[in-house]
Amino acid sequence: MNKKIGIGIVGCGIIAKRHIQSCLLLSEMCEIKAVSDLSLEKAEECAALAGEGTAVYTDYREMVKRDDIQVISLCTPPFFHKEPAIAAFEHGKHVLCEKPLAPSLQDCDEMIAAAKANNCKLATVFQLRFIHDIQKIKRILSSDLMGPIVYAQMSGNYWRGSKYYEVPWRGNFKSECGGVTMNHSIHTLDLFLWLMDTPLASVQAEMETLNHDIEVEDLSMAMFRFENGAVAQASCSLNTVKEGHTMSFSSNNHYVSYPYSVHAVKQSEQGGAALDADEVAKMEALAAAVVPELDLPKPNHADSYYDLFQAILQNKEPLVSGAEGRKTIEAITGIYKSATLGERVRFPITPDDPWYTAEGILANVKKSVRGG
Ligand SMILES: NC(=O)c1ccc[n+]([C@@H]2O[C@H](COP(=O)([O-])OP(=O)(O)OC[C@H]3O[C@@H](n4cnc5c(N)ncnc54)[C@H](O)[C@@H]3O)[C@@H](O)[C@H]2O)c1
Repeated sequence: MNKKIGIGIVGCGIIAKRHIQSCLLLSEMCEIKAVSDLSLEKAEECAALAGEGTAVYTDYREMVKRDDIQVISLCTPPFFHKEPAIAAFEHGKHVLCEKPLAPSLQDCDEMIAAAKANNCKLATVFQLRFIHDIQKIKRILSSDLMGPIVYAQMSGNYWRGSKYYEVPWRGNFKSECGGVTMNHSIHTLDLFLWLMDTPLASVQAEMETLNHDIEVEDLSMAMFRFENGAVAQASCSLNTVKEGHTMSFSSNNHYVSYPYSVHAVKQSEQGGAALDADEVAKMEALAAAVVPELDLPKPNHADSYYDLFQAILQNKEPLVSGAEGRKTIEAITGIYKSATLGERVRFPITPDDPWYTAEGILANVKKSVRGG
């Protein structure tokens, strides 16, 4: 590539530093031209990390006008993604937006429409999709070997203490836009829905705030039904002392899980499960053929940047497009609606549904009394 892709970062808090490190890992392809934050001090700190000559702005609307920037990275809190995204698109910039894409389906749709209208790419950061073992699982699940999934499970397990909620935008629906489901286990949900690769039909869910003095949930449990008949259970927890993501997918005879493992069985004479070593070997062979595109230290966001750069250069959709980022928002909206109303919620959630908008969610969603 002759010319480096110019980057501008909006929001210079915690995650922005990981964006900067990731861009520096890809310094042959891109260069951070400018950063912006409401706080001049934070912007200057990030500019120093990004390298000499990085311009500093306290108004992102000025930064997005620059001709030497092609990609705007959004590292602002969850409630403030749509406005800067749309401003960036209106200036012809592509956008890499931190998760969650937006608090509501309406906002997601407006962002996706603005990207399309201005012929720009919109990518959502879900960096875990690029983990090598996840790519292996994707390959196996996408193959004919596996067959349709019958039953699946996922747990997105996190732990956060009270200090975490001292940051003012966290802990409430207005600015964090949700709790563990929207902001932590959204990573697990994204992987899970992407790996299932079949539309959601409905969800029955519960949510609670068990152990934090916050308005948003620190636990949700959902039972999903998919259009192909598969059933899955999903839990999102901020109260699990040993953190990690786990998920498993069972078809009729094949099984794959994260952390990575594969298994296959055939029926024994008594109807039990007998190891099918031949099928296991076929699954392992599929997985072994998966070679990472970038072999960089993890965790980082370099894969997300690299994927967006390829999408720009080859004029294709990024792996985690706006539409992909929207899928988790629809699933989470369904969880919130079901847990609030105490009833099964069917997908899709359409524009005539009050839960389609951020205002509708805010007005209706079950809030914890502990947050008051
Ligand atoms: N992908 C991941 O693994 C991951 C991890 C952590 C956070 N995140 C996401 O990144 C985003 C930011 O989280 P964070 O933890 O870095 O938050 P943070 O509070 O540390 O940083 C956000 C920054 O945005 C700035 N900001 C707010 N409004 C602004 C505006 N109008 N213009 C410019 N700057 C503005 C704030 O001043 C702050 O410095 C969130 O969406 C969060 O969910 C993603």
